[in-house]
Amino acid sequence: MPNAVVLHQVGGPENFRWEPMVVGNPGPGEVRLRHTFSGLNYIDTNFRRGDYPPGPLPAILGREGAGVVEAVGADVTEVHVGQRVAYASVMGSYAEVRLIQAERLVPLPEDISDDVAAASLLKGMTAHMLLARVRTIGAGDTVLYHAAAGGLGLFVCQWAKALGATVIGTVGSQEKSALARAYGCDHVIDYTHEDFVARVKELTGGRGVTAVFDAVGKATFEKSVSLVAPFGTIASYGAASGPAPRDVASRLPIDRFLIYPTLPGHVAGRQALLTAANALFDVIRRGAVRVRIGQRYSLKDVAQAHRDLESRRTVGSTVLSVQG
Ligand SMILES: NC(=O)c1ccc[n+]([C@@H]2O[C@H](COP(=O)([O-])OP(=O)(O)OC[C@H]3O[C@@H](n4cnc5c(N)ncnc54)[C@H](OP(=O)(O)O)[C@@H]3O)[C@@H](O)[C@H]2O)c1
Repeated sequence: MPNAVVLHQVGGPENFRWEPMVVGNPGPGEVRLRHTFSGLNYIDTNFRRGDYPPGPLPAILGREGAGVVEAVGADVTEVHVGQRVAYASVMGSYAEVRLIQAERLVPLPEDISDDVAAASLLKGMTAHMLLARVRTIGAGDTVLYHAAAGGLGLFVCQWAKALGATVIGTVGSQEKSALARAYGCDHVIDYTHEDFVARVKELTGGRGVTAVFDAVGKATFEKSVSLVAPFGTIASYGAASGPAPRDVASRLPIDRFLIYPTLPGHVAGRQALLTAANALFDVIRRGAVRVRIGQRYSLKDVAQAHRDLESRRTVGSTVLSVQG
């Protein structure tokens, strides 16, 4: 019987259990998928703690995976048995085998390996959302990205740079500074030691930036708002340090755009999903975005991966190896 990491109650990482699971045959429109890798994302810790409801318990967390199609149900046209595929924003990737709707699967091209797919699909399509839909970023723009050396950070910073923007990144340590600089940032600020507001004002001649991408939340958001240029955009899409205050909209100058985007919205519908995935594969293929897998764990050890992510010890993407 295949195994999965099962969460019986919300709380600390010690609540995960490695247990055998019965996985049935796929129903109409479904696929049985054998994972090779699962991707780790900060939002997994939000669901584990219960900040966001994980659904009925016991639950299998994880929202990003890659693997091979083992069986298909009736009416499946998107993928075939034996095909390598990946997905993002569908709960249940902390498992050796799972059932999933075929329409949520992205066929993997030969030049995208399974570990790269599990390290990049959720974060890379989120970067596409921020740079192509939330705010169309191009030459002449300046962006501020918080937690630039993190999983999503390395994607957004490299991609924004490739689009011609000037990229300012904040990071939580000196080691992370060097990494952020090597992955797209023109300027890096260690916001644990330096006043990032003063520094960004100095770097932009007091004008502020075209877009602030802030998923750190509570610790940064209020300050981030003060750094958006007229007709600039501030995006709030995560809460790594706690939720951002929600009463900001009423205090924003009227010529600023505030948005709370989510990846499930960006990739709702098959065509939107494939467009975002193919845009990501294209920038990886061209070398404009390099996928940095900073940490690898066995899926069984996901509790340790959560501890490391929450204590800011990870850089770049983290993958969980499912096959041994
Ligand atoms: N809305 C969406 O659809 C969507 C999709 C993907 C990701 N996100 C959000 O984007 C953010 C990044 O996701 P990710 O998976 O790539 O994670 P990540 O950036 O690899 O990890 C989170 C980073 O946040 C920073 N941080 C600042 N204060 C923190 C605190 N008190 N505790 C923990 N970390 C803190 C740390 O970097 P420093 O040490 O450098 O500060 C840490 O490495 C998350 O908030 C996530 O929820 C949202």
